[in-house]
Amino acid sequence: MKRLLLSGLLTLCFATADNVSAAVIYAGQARAAAVCSQCHGIKNPSAEAPFPPLAGRDEAYLQTALKQYRDKTRKSDIMNAIAGSLSDADIANVAAYYAKLKP
Ligand code: HEC
Repeated sequence: MKRLLLSGLLTLCFATADNVSAAVIYAGQARAAAVCSQCHGIKNPSAEAPFPPLAGRDEAYLQTALKQYRDKTRKSDIMNAIAGSLSDADIANVAAYYAKLKP
């Protein structure tokens, strides 16, 4: 009985490993929902400056902007601090996520 349970658990682990790419997309979405949306919104960004809307924007543009914020070639106290902790994968994920959203 214990053995059965164990092999069941192992299968579950391998099954989740197969879904890594899906998990990565969800990670981008989760990060956007948890962090970015506080200022940028998800689908319905407020029209008010100073938070530019991100939904439906060009993916390459979003990636470039985030990398510039990260290496501080583009200055913004807020975005420099936020982008500083993003990895290349994080940037690719959130850019892909926001680019796919319909504004
Ligand atoms: C605390 C508020 C805040 C949070 C949280 C935040 N941002 Fe920003 N973001 C701003 C502000 C303010 C600007 C405008 C900065 C400037 O003038 O360059 C901006 C600008 C941007 C831009 C440039 C848009 C353009 O039109 O050029 C991108 C891309 C961006 N943010 C992505 C993100 C992502 C992705 C996250 C989550 C990881 C995030 N932001 C979280 C406040 C925020």
